[in-house]
Order: sequence, then C-alpha cells, then structure tokens
Amino acid sequence: MKSILFVCLGNICRSPVVEAVARREFADAGITIAVASAGTGDWHVGEPADARAIASAAAHGYDASAHRARQVSAADFEHFDALLAMDRANLRELERRWPRHRDKVQLFLPFAGVTPPHEVPDPYYGNARDFAHVVELARAGMQGLIERLRNTA
Ligand code: 4NP
Repeated sequence: MKSILFVCLGNICRSPVVEAVARREFADAGITIAVASAGTGDWHVGEPADARAIASAAAHGYDASAHRARQVSAADFEHFDALLAMDRANLRELERRWPRHRDKVQLFLPFAGVTPPHEVPDPYYGNARDFAHVVELARAGMQGLIERLRNTA
C-alpha cells in the first residue's frame, strides 16, 4: 500500500486529525505511505481544520495547522490505494457515489484492527473531550494500522 485517504464528513475535524497523526506516526515508524484527507461534504472546502481539532492534535504534538478542507472526488479513487472512512455514514456515502470502487473503501478502525469502537464519533457539536477522544482513537488506529502494514508489506 502506497497511499491512504482518510475520509470524514466535513474534513475539518476527524480526518485532518487522523491525517496529522498518520503523517507523524508513519514517519516515526519508517513507513513511507502518502496520506491525505477529504470530506464527503463540501460545506467547508478551503477552510482550515476546526480550531478545536488543531488544538487537540497539538496537545499531543501533532500538527494539523496547514490543513485545508477538500471534498472527495472521483480522481481520489485513481490516486489512493485505500479510502478509510471515519464512520458508517461516510462509508455508505462513498459506496453510494462510487459503487465501482467499493473494494478501496473501508471503515478506518476495523481496517486498523481496533474494535470496538467501529467508528470515530463526529465531535463537531461536541466539546473538548470529544475532540480529545478523536486523537485517542486516531493514535490507537495508527498503532493497529502500522502493525497491519508491517505484516502485509
Ligand atoms: P468532521 O466533522 O466530519 O469530522 O470534519 C464535521 C464538520 C462539519 C460538519 C459536520 C461534521 N458540518 O455539519 O458542517
């Protein structure tokens, strides 16, 4: 696997944090995989990550400050080996819009071998604790993902 796209709804909370965690944890593990993130929705295209997401990532030394939101496109299915969705609604939306590419679409945490939970809950209408939980799940998911990548490399 050479590239992974992390996908959530708005691409301002969950997937930018997971991308930032992946970028550093993969580098620390010596794994060269290109990572990016995108949203199924277009409301926040061009915007930075949510300030609460940037802060919760920064609290653990992850930098999501350069992120700009974008929407998933058909080209992503050509460029990326896997599109990992944060929750089942994101997964279903990807499968609905690109049914021919279902083989590339997976739920992030189960794919990483970390269950339960199966989903990274949407923190947008939540509080700081919910954003901290996203970072925790991102870190747990990345440990599992790194193990999986080592075993299948
Ligand atoms: P995300 O969170 O999918 O983790 O980026 C959300 C961001 C924005 C909205 C919903 C979820 N929104 O409805 O605008």
